[in-house]
Amino acid sequence: MSETYEVPEQVRRGAAGPVRTREEYLDTYHQAQNDPSGYWLQCAKHHLSWRTPPTLGLQGSYHTIAEAPLRWFADGRLNVTESCLDRHLATRGDKVAILWEGDEPGNVRKLTYRELHAEVCRAANALAALGVGVGDRVIIYMGMVPEAAVAMLACARVGAVHSVVFGGFSADSLRDRIIDCGASVVITQDEGRRGGRSIPLKATTDEACDGQSVRAVLVYRHTGTPVQMVEGRDVWWQDVVPSAAATHTAVEVGAEDPLFILYTSGSTGKPKGLVHTSGGYLLWATWTCATTFDLREDDVFACVADIGWITGHSYIVYGPLANGATTLMFESTPLHPDAGRYWDMVQRHRITVFYTAPTAIRALAAHGTEPVQRYDRSSLRVLGTVGEPINPDAWRWYHQVVGEGRCNVVDTWWQTETGGHMITPIAPVTATKPGSATLPLPGVLPKLLDDKDREIVGPGEGRLCIRHPWPGQARTVWGDHERYVQTYFGTFPGLYFTGDGARRDEHGYFWITGRVDDVINVAGHRMGTAEFESALVSTELVAEAAVVPFPHDVKGQGVMAYVVLRGEAPAGLADQLNGVCRTAIGAHARIDRLAVIPGLPKTRSGKVMRRILRKVAEGRSDQLGDVSTLADPSVVQAIIAAAGS
Ligand code: WT7
Repeated sequence: MSETYEVPEQVRRGAAGPVRTREEYLDTYHQAQNDPSGYWLQCAKHHLSWRTPPTLGLQGSYHTIAEAPLRWFADGRLNVTESCLDRHLATRGDKVAILWEGDEPGNVRKLTYRELHAEVCRAANALAALGVGVGDRVIIYMGMVPEAAVAMLACARVGAVHSVVFGGFSADSLRDRIIDCGASVVITQDEGRRGGRSIPLKATTDEACDGQSVRAVLVYRHTGTPVQMVEGRDVWWQDVVPSAAATHTAVEVGAEDPLFILYTSGSTGKPKGLVHTSGGYLLWATWTCATTFDLREDDVFACVADIGWITGHSYIVYGPLANGATTLMFESTPLHPDAGRYWDMVQRHRITVFYTAPTAIRALAAHGTEPVQRYDRSSLRVLGTVGEPINPDAWRWYHQVVGEGRCNVVDTWWQTETGGHMITPIAPVTATKPGSATLPLPGVLPKLLDDKDREIVGPGEGRLCIRHPWPGQARTVWGDHERYVQTYFGTFPGLYFTGDGARRDEHGYFWITGRVDDVINVAGHRMGTAEFESALVSTELVAEAAVVPFPHDVKGQGVMAYVVLRGEAPAGLADQLNGVCRTAIGAHARIDRLAVIPGLPKTRSGKVMRRILRKVAEGRSDQLGDVSTLADPSVVQAIIAAAGS
């Protein structure tokens, strides 16, 4: 007898996306299941603009993935930017492509498709003049300015591979990524702006590039603050882009050629550079954006994520632009200058589709209903969420307070690895239940496995796998295919393992329960426990460290660090250790709770029993289970005592 919400009439009426009714959903689901290769080949030809349309669908399988990476549409030739820009010029040239809202409310810039096309051409010409060509890697380390999207598209225009690094990452993290992908050029800006504060992007870039092979740094002047320019390496964007030609012949690439690399955290200390392709990824971003949100010609689409994450790639840049939509780029935070900011923007820009994260919803709900009700939200039709499980209370607040019950809430489950949505309501089609990501999209074949690795048929809870390739799937880890195969296909041969747990109910609805591996999700930011641990043990102070998540009211998960010190605890230990994490990872990597313990709970073979540390962090020390295999069971009492203090 679970709480279910039917699709509101105003959401169902006038549906325009690829899947408009329950019947169409069932029909396309079966088509994509029975002939995935043929189904997506036909979609690829229909939804994208090709120089040479593909004749091949899928090549390869999960069973042969170690020897031969998956390929989709391999004989197709295209340039991604022609789907995102050129093809819209005739019909939508004067339509706003990027609607930018700066850090201060009402600081707005609008770029039409014609203007964006011209700007991307200029930037592509400038990049080409800097020697950037097919296959070269370019790091983009910028804030939320339109030029960040222009930079991504300009890379794609010349056939280069971009890797956007979130502006919150530290110089160490940026340097690791520059080295890992062998970037020759970095595009940055003098400073970013967020919530009234400045982010020293250029200074961090200088630190990261020091001694590296970076040939050129292109710097967009945003705030105008003085920054150091390195002679012979650094170039102002404003000196080379505006004066470049506003036409550029896009460089044709193969469908399987990489479009970008995006780093994400896993269970080791070293982030993985996931590789997404030009054809398959673009199709998935385009088709899921149109399908889930039921994109319509007059939509104002606002995904308030950061382009440094996959959400920004797929649903600020590639998905909306390939669909010819108006996409909003937001530089600020939901609380600047106050908790009404999102709804102020909804009112001023008449936003129709709004997409944010559960952590933002919870933070705003804590401010009550007044900051929401102050503004007119009647333009809204679809409300999306992404990044972590949404608790039913937050879901209801979004649905009732923000949407006044008139909108469909789409809780979209997916990952950096999947390129786009996987399990999600389709706005005009799917009845929703608070907290459930509902049903798989066509082409997505989930499978749940129990703790004995047996398939769960019907209702049940287990580890979530996907049993057939889809076009948007990341093809490899940059420079380390072996790691890709091990991470995603090593647990259950023949299946893609997501790292998440999930429950399927009696209606076939999925309820994602969260990560079952060593990944922590803090406010939608994915971090590896191992990244924290290697940062912590890099200091002289710490002998051993173990980091686990615990439930957090606003952030979803918080970070708890257990440390074994080499000596006495100095004053200001927590600040010192947080400084270490900030330097090694970034400003978003913060320890919420610290416990100094005499020793880690290890088995006789030396394996740390994380289960114990997690239970204690969750406040469930009464449910530790069997601890008899510990080398020294007495540490448990000390751990409980330290965690409680
Ligand atoms: C992990 C992927 C997807 C883009 C942003 C995050 C969690 C994501 C949901 C959701 C429950 C979710 C999963 C997933 N996650 N969306 N709707 N419900 N959990 O991408 O950084 O690659 O993180 O985020 O645990 O594995 P990411």
